[in-house]
Amino acid sequence: MEDQASETCKALVERLRRASSVCALTGAGVSKESGVPTFREADGLWNRFRPEELANVEAFIRNPTLVWEWYSWRRELMSRVQPNAGHYALAELSSLLKSFTLITQNVDNLHRQAGSKDVIELHGNIQRNKCQECKTVYLPDDSRTRFEFRKGQLPHCPECNTGLLRPDVVWFGEMLPEDAITQSWEAAERCDLFLSIGTSAVVYPAAALPQVAQASGAFLVEINPQVTELSGKADLSFREPSGEILPTLVNLLKEQA
Ligand code: APR
Repeated sequence: MEDQASETCKALVERLRRASSVCALTGAGVSKESGVPTFREADGLWNRFRPEELANVEAFIRNPTLVWEWYSWRRELMSRVQPNAGHYALAELSSLLKSFTLITQNVDNLHRQAGSKDVIELHGNIQRNKCQECKTVYLPDDSRTRFEFRKGQLPHCPECNTGLLRPDVVWFGEMLPEDAITQSWEAAERCDLFLSIGTSAVVYPAAALPQVAQASGAFLVEINPQVTELSGKADLSFREPSGEILPTLVNLLKEQA
């Protein structure tokens, strides 16, 4: 890493050390180095699939089999990937900072697998199921909802016995979980340093969080190899993969601990 960049890293590490509260928002880019496709890059999911056919309630009601085919494919993909160094670095951050809140748009469960405890999952978690009718949520290991999609069966809710189960993820046009929104907004307004990591920052309300933080006085940092809608507002940008820069920051923090 050239000198200027390491100086920038050191300056950020000093801010991290001094910060009374740090907040991070992650997007699909933080899982890219684990082999999970993003959505809006050239090789992203929305360039191969149509979200209006797969990621909204109308599509599910119209063709639940197609939607389950897609989510079963995504679940199978995610069962084969592991957290990367960026996930582990974020999990370690919480033990190195005075206060750290991790908010993610990702549904891939990789932050939890890397050891992050209190992850705020704005868009849900693909490992869980939810009843489309009674909204009961089922954890991944709930034997009552284990089903083999490949046998063509669609899973029904064991609680209400009427509703179809669906992945517990937020679809386009749906409200985000109220508690996740409340906690995220509070964390963004309270923090004095906000990290926007691996997100194109175009999907609201999540994309509002960096600006809420900055408007509340936080220093805004973006980590993304590409320029995004947020880049012009960020106080500091790292045009690098999160799987490289986050471990560097954590190692510098530990050296100075
Ligand atoms: N490190 C950091 N960022 C990366 C990396 C990497 N190694 N690789 C790619 N990126 C960046 C891309 O440059 C891009 O800006 O990750 C970003 C991913 O953007 P999107 O594909 O738009 O994903 P995201 O921002 O998470 O989308 C938000 O949109 O479709 C919905 O619900 C879905 O949660 C998702 C939301």
